[in-house]
Amino acid sequence: MKIILATHNRDKEKELQISLKGMNIEVLSLFDFPEIGDIEETGTTLLENSLLKSRLVFRKTGIPTIADDTGLEVDFLNGAPGVYSARYAGNNVSYKDNVNKLLIELNGIPSEKRTARFRTVITFVDENQELSTEGHIDGVISESIKGAGGFGYDPIFFVPHLGKTFAELSSIEKNKISHRGIALQKLRKILINVLI
Ligand code: IMP
Repeated sequence: MKIILATHNRDKEKELQISLKGMNIEVLSLFDFPEIGDIEETGTTLLENSLLKSRLVFRKTGIPTIADDTGLEVDFLNGAPGVYSARYAGNNVSYKDNVNKLLIELNGIPSEKRTARFRTVITFVDENQELSTEGHIDGVISESIKGAGGFGYDPIFFVPHLGKTFAELSSIEKNKISHRGIALQKLRKILINVLI
């Protein structure tokens, strides 16, 4: 069978593809459907944004669709940037702009107050059902960037029990423990029962 990953983000596409390996599924993404274009994330929660993407792509293509929406919740900032993580430093900004803004906002704040978590909501929509799963991971926002892997806020997301930032992990190591990896492992378990 075919599944579409409703994303234009090559980094997410890569991670999602790794997690769905071995399921005998042909995985497509929005790069295979250029006519769909960018989908505006107008929701105020991760679930709303994720569902908005999976419903729209399924309606337009008739192919079962998976979408994710992710936020970085920083406790000192009362959960910001959260659902607005992609646009934290403004519209059409780079990963680096967002990372720099967060480092400036937390400048001088001691490590015990720099706690944060990544949260992902993944949704799956086909003709029979709408499913959703969630994953999160706790960490600490480091004071400077470290590591060359991953994407987005990974170089400043420090995982205390590993003593490393997400950007210092291989994609396989990250997928095992990450917000998106956990949400996908849960979805995978449900899909195996529902689709086969
Ligand atoms: P989105 O709205 O789900 O595309 O994600 C919001 C923003 O969060 C993205 O632009 C990335 O900067 C960041 N982000 C999402 N997933 C990750 C991740 O796994 N690591 C680091 N940053 C991420």
